[in-house]
Amino acid sequence: MKQVMLRNGISVPAIGQGTWHIGDDPRMHDQEVEALRTGIDSGMTLIDTAELYGYGKSESVVGDAIKPYDRSKLFIVSKVLPQNAGRKNMRRACETSLKYLGIDYLDLYLYHWRGSIPLSETVECLQELKDSGLIREWGVSNFDTRDMNELARLKYGENCVAVQDLYHIGSRGTEYSLQPYLRKNNIAFMAYCPLAINGTLRGGIIGNPVLQQVAAVHNASVQQIMLAWAIRGGNVIAIPKSATKEHTLQNAAAGDIALTDEDLKILDKAFPAPDREVPLDVE
Ligand SMILES: NC(=O)c1ccc[n+]([C@@H]2O[C@H](COP(=O)([O-])OP(=O)(O)OC[C@H]3O[C@@H](n4cnc5c(N)ncnc54)[C@H](OP(=O)(O)O)[C@@H]3O)[C@@H](O)[C@H]2O)c1
Repeated sequence: MKQVMLRNGISVPAIGQGTWHIGDDPRMHDQEVEALRTGIDSGMTLIDTAELYGYGKSESVVGDAIKPYDRSKLFIVSKVLPQNAGRKNMRRACETSLKYLGIDYLDLYLYHWRGSIPLSETVECLQELKDSGLIREWGVSNFDTRDMNELARLKYGENCVAVQDLYHIGSRGTEYSLQPYLRKNNIAFMAYCPLAINGTLRGGIIGNPVLQQVAAVHNASVQQIMLAWAIRGGNVIAIPKSATKEHTLQNAAAGDIALTDEDLKILDKAFPAPDREVPLDVE
């Protein structure tokens, strides 16, 4: 499994596990726990969740899944909702997430998307959680380049270690200015919806003949090629969600697929990189 080095020197797997909709259906609990554990055992030790996902239900399933593991070998990410991202609620929201997860610190806490609370207040609260040890690092989500420039001007803004945005082969807008900005400032990029169930082009990608051709050459699935493509640059962490053990194993194996220059050339032709700034694709 390829690794991505964060600014704090911690290395995380380039493919982690998303959890949106995990916990929605209690009948799926054991299958979801098994899939998450299969992912951990296969090297996908980074798990992305959020207070939003089932309002604690997703975090609870993750908590059940990680119980047998050495906490220090895991990298657990959760997110705070915009309405909780201020002085009044953020600490309580973080403690509630920790309770559902059954752990006493988060490796990364993300501001889920921008709301009405001033960004300066949110950043101060994130920094206080870091100083108090409830979170190791913080980052932001659904931020574009303009948001990042605003963040950089704020006190503590330079402490953001990761940005999580929608990114897949059919939605490459962040490559124009955001990803170069992040690379320059040593901030990791987390790609959500890396299998394109959402975002521009939605379901139209899986049947694409060029993707299928590259997949056949690597004896892989189109989804595996999409993950290998997303992490090709070394600074991107993809977080596919799967509640299916077989898919989880395939997603982990995608971390070892090396796309050739020729593969990337034909994929670029079929899915061109942006030649101008485009609005952020969001889910
Ligand atoms: N920050 C944000 O605002 C934000 C927004 C959206 C998502 N996210 C995060 O990003 C994660 C990923 O995004 P997502 O869940 O929307 O979409 P996704 O990971 O792109 O796609 C998930 C879908 O793909 C299927 N799948 C997974 N692996 C597969 C494989 N190898 N072959 C075929 N199908 C496969 C899953 O079904 P099975 O379960 O049956 O495998 C599921 O239906 C989320 O779970 C969440 O943690 C963050």
